[in-house]
Amino acid sequence: MGLTGLLLVGFLIEHLLGNFKLLEDSTGEAFNEYVLWLKSFGPLLQLAELGLAALFLCHIALALRLTLENLAARKQKYVVRGTHGEKTPGSVTMFITGALITGYLVKHLLDFRFDERYFEDPAAFVKLTLSQPQHGLAYLMAAFVVGLHLSHGFRSAFQSLGLSHPALNAYLQKLGIAIAVLFATGFAVFPLYFLFAWNGPAR
Ligand code: HEM
Repeated sequence: MGLTGLLLVGFLIEHLLGNFKLLEDSTGEAFNEYVLWLKSFGPLLQLAELGLAALFLCHIALALRLTLENLAARKQKYVVRGTHGEKTPGSVTMFITGALITGYLVKHLLDFRFDERYFEDPAAFVKLTLSQPQHGLAYLMAAFVVGLHLSHGFRSAFQSLGLSHPALNAYLQKLGIAIAVLFATGFAVFPLYFLFAWNGPAR
């Protein structure tokens, strides 16, 4: 669980940096060049996409197993309580934020990855999509939900990998919150900008 989660954070870093190409120029050239560069990897890119899909599926399957195990453990009287740290907004909503992100991912892939119109002019299509309130607000909410998930998930990943020590835990908790805020803000910049500050062609 921890390993798949941290590898997904690695993907998110690359994805967020790639998205910033959208703001590099007003013509969309920088982002479109980036998409062409990705496509130039051909079969290697397809392999990476398959690996990414496998990573998401493993993460979801392990999360479901952990949730079922926790539910079963709660029914047993002798279960030791209070050994997993304090409850936080992130920790108590892990399952629901995970489910919301999964739902969002389906929408997100249908919006771009599996819509032929995207590949005609990727930058223009992303900008236009995000500038529409029904999509832009969904992307804004997703940014918040991803941040909430990471606010607990990042620290928890190290614990599930066995890297747990009181001094390290306090540091990881702070780092996890910083990373969560960074991702939430980073991903929110795009819907916020294209909803409220962009003077796009179709407006
Ligand atoms: C404002 C926020 C976001 C924007 C503008 C955005 C944009 C995009 C675009 C344009 C693509 C298509 C890439 C391509 O095939 O050329 C894409 C793919 C993808 N995005 Fe996002 N994304 C955002 C947030 C997220 C978040 C928060 C996640 C994960 C929780 C995510 C996960 C993915 C995945 C898994 C793919 C498929 C990658 C692939 O098959 O190459 N995205 N995104």
